[in-house]
Amino acid sequence: MRKLLLAAAAVLLCTGASRTRVIRPPSAAPAKPTFSKEIVRIFQQNCQSCHHPGDIAPFSLMTYGDTFPYRLQIKLMTQSKEMPPWKPTAGCGDFDAARVLSTNDIDLIKQWVDAGAPEGNKADLPAPLQFNGAWTLGQPDLVLSSADAYTPPATGDMYRCFTLPTNLPADAYVSAIDIHPGDRETVHHVIAYIDTTGASVALDEKDPGPGYTSFGGPGFAITNANAATLGGWAPGARPFALPEGIAYSLPANSRVVLQVHYHPHHGQPLPDKTEIGIYFAKEKPKKLLRILPVINQSFTIPPNEANYEVKATFPIPVPVKSHLWVVAPHMHLLGRKMNVVATMPDGAKQCLINIDDWDFHWQGMYRYKDGLAMPAFVRFSLSAIYDNSEGNAKNPSFPPKAVSWGEETTDEMCIAFLGITFDDEDLTRGKVMDAGWMLGR
Ligand code: HEC
Repeated sequence: MRKLLLAAAAVLLCTGASRTRVIRPPSAAPAKPTFSKEIVRIFQQNCQSCHHPGDIAPFSLMTYGDTFPYRLQIKLMTQSKEMPPWKPTAGCGDFDAARVLSTNDIDLIKQWVDAGAPEGNKADLPAPLQFNGAWTLGQPDLVLSSADAYTPPATGDMYRCFTLPTNLPADAYVSAIDIHPGDRETVHHVIAYIDTTGASVALDEKDPGPGYTSFGGPGFAITNANAATLGGWAPGARPFALPEGIAYSLPANSRVVLQVHYHPHHGQPLPDKTEIGIYFAKEKPKKLLRILPVINQSFTIPPNEANYEVKATFPIPVPVKSHLWVVAPHMHLLGRKMNVVATMPDGAKQCLINIDDWDFHWQGMYRYKDGLAMPAFVRFSLSAIYDNSEGNAKNPSFPPKAVSWGEETTDEMCIAFLGITFDDEDLTRGKVMDAGWMLGR
């Protein structure tokens, strides 16, 4: 009987939860957690993607020896929920691949550290995870990188754009991308923009050295509502394919502009040549993933305001039903909070994402587990809070000054990008939505 119950429990755990638990017979007294048994498994699932040698985090959490010296910080950072880094608050948006530790795992880590962080029995160790640098989704159809390596300055953040020709003879559809940073210790995140006009070439020519510097966006205006970006990448993120039948459009002869954020934090950065791997859709997609900007470009945040609200709204002006797949809030250094909601025609509201501790250096493209169905005439809106006081340690201006929209570090932005598909679109039957209204045309 017990065997049967355990089997049923195991099935439930495997289907219902994304992580496996150690199942103990109910009679056994809970043993003290050890590194080799419980803790390393928590690290494998939640930490090692960044905390392995040569990656973005400043130390490894692969072995007991790597981990022991950091035990107190580990307890602190997991108690405070600063690690693993994950910005959306619970209860708003059901996101895929959420980096959130369960209360149980946080407790286990605490018990383990409080008990002196014992290693336990090496025989309990699971097979180590391999980080061998291979493309997770297999060999990409197209790999692009800048011709020359670029070495960022040893201190301070650098946002550098590299304009890469695709030389595609015909329009293409992209179902996934992956990014391989050249110097993983320094590349903090990457956004892949699409340039359909060649505007990035002129920017590159004006700036000496490989690429050009552009802090906010890619430095040029996006004019094609069907082809704005291919998404982005941040350390710890796993590459993913868009749902079947959905793809990004990558028009013939367009260029991919990789905006690479370099964040050197230990020693001299190495010359970097970040690569993007592009996977084309196997068949012509039914729908394009469009990036709809909920945006406010006409605000001024007064100096010494610690809690200044900026709002933006985007009512869909045409009678189309849609599905929402991803959301990516974007502000600069004064941003503190962002809340994005959908308001239905009957007034009902749905919270799309809530971030109450914005960090410019940890921005993500958050993906819903399932597409969210939106009725015709839905209205998207956001509320953003900025702290332009001296008390904000990230304030780039001292003393604080009035801050408006702009591309510079000392300017601000207020956008939530929504990755959206239109239900009636079907490219395979020649039904392509005119989405010019998304860019205000
Ligand atoms: C997405 C990448 C990522 C993941 C996942 C991650 N970390 Fe980190 N961690 C970092 C980076 C990067 C830093 C360096 C500080 C910074 O840039 O925020 C860091 C710093 C730390 C620090 C040092 C903080 C300090 O300044 O004293 C601790 C401790 C830590 N991480 C523990 C963990 C633990 C435990 C987990 C898993 C439960 C985890 N991290 C998961 C990226 C990550």
